[in-house]
Amino acid sequence: MTRSNVYVTRMIPQQTIDDLRQFHDVEVNPHDRALTRDELLKAVRGRDAVITLLTDSIDAEVLDAAGRGCKIFANYAVGFNNFDLQAATERGVIMTNTPGVLDDATATHAWALLLATARRISESERYVREGKWHGWAPMAFIGQDVDNKTLGVAGLGRIGSKFARKAAAFDMKVIYTDAQRNPELEQRLGATFVDKETLLRESDYLSLHLPLLPETHHYIGAAELAKMKRTAILINAARGPLVDEKALVAALRDKVIWGAGLDVFEREPELEPGLSSLDNALVVPHIASATIETRLAMGKIAVDNVISVLKGEKPQTCINPEVLRSMA
Ligand code: GLV
Ligand code: GLV
Repeated sequence: MTRSNVYVTRMIPQQTIDDLRQFHDVEVNPHDRALTRDELLKAVRGRDAVITLLTDSIDAEVLDAAGRGCKIFANYAVGFNNFDLQAATERGVIMTNTPGVLDDATATHAWALLLATARRISESERYVREGKWHGWAPMAFIGQDVDNKTLGVAGLGRIGSKFARKAAAFDMKVIYTDAQRNPELEQRLGATFVDKETLLRESDYLSLHLPLLPETHHYIGAAELAKMKRTAILINAARGPLVDEKALVAALRDKVIWGAGLDVFEREPELEPGLSSLDNALVVPHIASATIETRLAMGKIAVDNVISVLKGEKPQTCINPEVLRSMA
């Protein structure tokens, strides 16, 4: 196999880069930051394959900048709302993501947000570090029970179903909504299908596990927040624009809902003004898949996809399979 020329838009685990270098020439963005648009357009030029991050917007302009020799854009993420699939398909360019390997890490992280928000972990830890703790207090940092409550899951896909499964440990009632019912999964998870209205009204904890699509943009806005319990907690470790962040800040400030645990934001890395000063919002920087094992596994999928495609073989996790039809 002749060596091809692969670009990686930001450092990913060294081991995965080393694996790729056994077969191909690899150049990695040398900066510890995302590339600017201009840098990206220049960096992809003449490459045979590119490994990208969810912060790189890959559209017709980038595909054309890469040129006709570029066979694959492999996203180092399961989400691919940063990819223009149609533009890639029209140009015969393969696009891939990293599904499966991050389901548990992401679902567990959503649980970490849920538990930390319910028990006010971040807020009370700040209090201790700031030297404000002067002894056990009967009414300090009163949170909410998790056990035996109702857990609402919006989107019972790969990550949502892993998330729902872990609710058994807390004896919770699980309700969910999705574009489609999945009776087999319902049975396995002990989950009940409800409409969105019921999910909003009945959930004590509501966690979002939907892909970002035009129809899921602002899935939770002012009208939805108003239907939720005043004691409810919203969890989002999926995509920021699923939630109207301005409406959420107002709802948290006015105690329309009790709290929110957020891993993702509408305009990362910017936060809606007012959000970071609210004690009932837990905010962390999009780290749901950030574990050693998971990031290695994501890197391995991205690299394996690139190696397969450059060999003329089908990749494991193609997200625009129409382009594969012409392949043997
Ligand atoms: C992370 O947000 C991912 O989509 O992998
Ligand atoms: C709390 O520490 C208790 O003993 O109730």
